Amino acid sequence: MHPLVVRAAKGELPEWSCAGAPRREHMRRVADLMEHWARSLDLDAGEVVRWRAAGYLHDVLRDGDPSELRTMIADEELRDLPDPVLHGPAAADRLEEEGVGDSELILAVAFHTIGHPRLGRLGRALYTADFLEPGRDFPGDPRAELRKRMPHAAEEVVIEVARARIGRTLDAGRSLRRESVAFWNGLVALAGR
Ligand SMILES: [Fe+2]
Ligand SMILES: [Fe+2]
Repeated sequence: MHPLVVRAAKGELPEWSCAGAPRREHMRRVADLMEHWARSLDLDAGEVVRWRAAGYLHDVLRDGDPSELRTMIADEELRDLPDPVLHGPAAADRLEEEGVGDSELILAVAFHTIGHPRLGRLGRALYTADFLEPGRDFPGDPRAELRKRMPHAAEEVVIEVARARIGRTLDAGRSLRRESVAFWNGLVALAGR
């Protein structure tokens, strides 16, 4: 495992990270949730490290300047993403540049906001944890109930989370990315709907 990933699992972020204190708290809560789920699934120690690292690394560039983040993204199509979601692909490309070769982790970081049809179990868990981490709850929030069903009802819960996340985009009258649509279709197919 790449040393950057091992350090990230301990909450030690690379020196190029761009995430302020409140953001780091969010990252820690996502990492804690990811660890809890990985342990509940009886994953081995190496997997627990990867799941925790994903929690920390997903927002490692969240507070970066969008115009700079855009220049860091190799894939031209992804440079068109709206400012608030550029940090995923930018961080993924930077991690690859650093020599991180874990393609499932890289894809999870890149698409933790908009989803992607090829997200694996780790990537779907990250997409879910980013939304369900307890720091984002408000009183009466259905998130607490969804959290209780994780990780054993992950296939159902991720659909609820995607419904909420994609629903916000629809409510705002914004267009959906083709990755998000394919992600949604893949989730419902996986659940046999
Ligand atoms: Fe994010
Ligand atoms: Fe996040």
